[in-house]
Amino acid sequence: MTDPKVKKYSEELKKLGIEHEILKHPQLVSVEAVQKYLGYGLEDAGATLVIKVDDKFIAIIRRGDTKLDNERVKKYLGVANLRMANEEEFTKLTGVPSGAASVYIPSLPTYIDKKIFEKEYINAGSGSLLYTFRYKTSDLKKIPGIKVVDFTSIESEKKSSLIDIKGKRILSGITPSGDGTLHIGNYLGAVKQFIEFAKNGDCYLMVADLHALTTIQNKAQLQKNTETLILNELALLGNLTNIVFFRQSDVPMHAELTWILNNVTPLGLLRRAHAYKDKLSKDVMEDEINLGLFNYPILMASDILLYKPDFVPVGRDQKQHIEICRDIAGRLNKTYKSDVLKLPKPYIPEDVAVVMGTDGKRKMSKSLGNIISIFDDEIVIKKQVMSTYTDPTRIHSNDLGHIEGNMVFAYLDFFGEKNKVSELKDLYKEGKVADVEVKNYLFESLMKTFKDARVRYQELKNNPQKVTKILSNGADRAREVAGKTMMEVRDAIGLTNNYSFFKY
Ligand code: ADP
Ligand code: TRP
Repeated sequence: MTDPKVKKYSEELKKLGIEHEILKHPQLVSVEAVQKYLGYGLEDAGATLVIKVDDKFIAIIRRGDTKLDNERVKKYLGVANLRMANEEEFTKLTGVPSGAASVYIPSLPTYIDKKIFEKEYINAGSGSLLYTFRYKTSDLKKIPGIKVVDFTSIESEKKSSLIDIKGKRILSGITPSGDGTLHIGNYLGAVKQFIEFAKNGDCYLMVADLHALTTIQNKAQLQKNTETLILNELALLGNLTNIVFFRQSDVPMHAELTWILNNVTPLGLLRRAHAYKDKLSKDVMEDEINLGLFNYPILMASDILLYKPDFVPVGRDQKQHIEICRDIAGRLNKTYKSDVLKLPKPYIPEDVAVVMGTDGKRKMSKSLGNIISIFDDEIVIKKQVMSTYTDPTRIHSNDLGHIEGNMVFAYLDFFGEKNKVSELKDLYKEGKVADVEVKNYLFESLMKTFKDARVRYQELKNNPQKVTKILSNGADRAREVAGKTMMEVRDAIGLTNNYSFFKY
């Protein structure tokens, strides 16, 4: 181990009789991501919270899958106020960035939640973002001055992030590029988030056909792709109560706002955009790139800003576009000394940020041919599952197998039944189950997950008038919101905003 601080801390703990294993990992982004990398869940993690109670600070160690009950803490400690330390206070008190705090902070009275001891081992802070210590929980009682308390209830992080978004608005879009079909990467990285959001807040979803013009310049193909994407999305979304689902080109305000935003956007900002840079790196001459592609992030900014969403759920590959959107919105507001445009935030759940393809090497993408489809014939999906990358070191089914990097298990984590998956993982590691058996289970799980959607897909396909109705209803609702924002923007920048004249 190279980090002298971690080494010193490790020695201190050993002196106290606190045994621990030292695990190295890529820099911590979230506890969930590190735990996943190490092969554990949030329930195997211990998190040190630094909390300000009235006018002093304390540390509470809770299990990663639990939530602090503030009222219980206040009652136990007899305090009136309680809040989390901010980043500055945290670093000052612990000497490390948040996320890296160790279990023993001599300067702070420390409380351990009793649910920690339900696990024999727990992974917790080492003082460094690159290491995690795996402790025997019974040893943690040796921390000087420690008190065991009952401060938490079980609540997954995911659930709590849903509570945060209650009543909020999200907006997102998918471009009908490729052939318009969706794969499980699109589902996990995008559509599933929309469904979760729609349970708690309102949701604007567009089929971004104006975006598709940047690459598809063939009438029949554009129409076919757009129809396919619409059917794919509607089938997956199911009941649409909180969702305004519309076609971008049904709402002319997107193109209008784009023109206005063009004028506050510097060339340099767009030159840094990856869609454009990717194109350049593919040996296309700069002079040949169409302006639509170059402008793409501005159109996307308009898509977002017209609806004033709180969050924009997208895969990690789109994060840069949201940043550009925030930048452009800030520029317009600043130029006109106005706050007419609301800056949105990206929403990228850590564990599905990028779904890797069946080759196990690159992100799942239609153009790379490493996908698992959702609406194709069973025989096609079965073939995709059967050719999924597993463990190349395993030649016979009784060889010991590896789970890390094994795409079949990566997908099963999302689609399989938890207990069955964990049983299969154990058997696989011991060389007691064949690849084909695990793959069959993945296929079954996929068919089960998408059973209703596949039925809906056929229904919608046979009822085009139903689809037309959904789209025209969505377009009406979208135009109303977008039209209102356009009036505000026109007003802010000095264009005509005669409401009676501009009836969108
Ligand atoms: P593709 O790369 O297959 O053409 P798109 O670029 O059309 O997919 O993506 C549509 C949506 O799905 C976007 O929100 C994108 O971020 C998300 N997405 C695409 N591929 C993945 C992936 N492999 N993992 C996670 N999300 C993805
Ligand atoms: N550019 C996005 C993609 O390729 C699709 C998109 C268009 C979008 N407009 C949007 C996503 C607005 C979020 C918000 O996947």
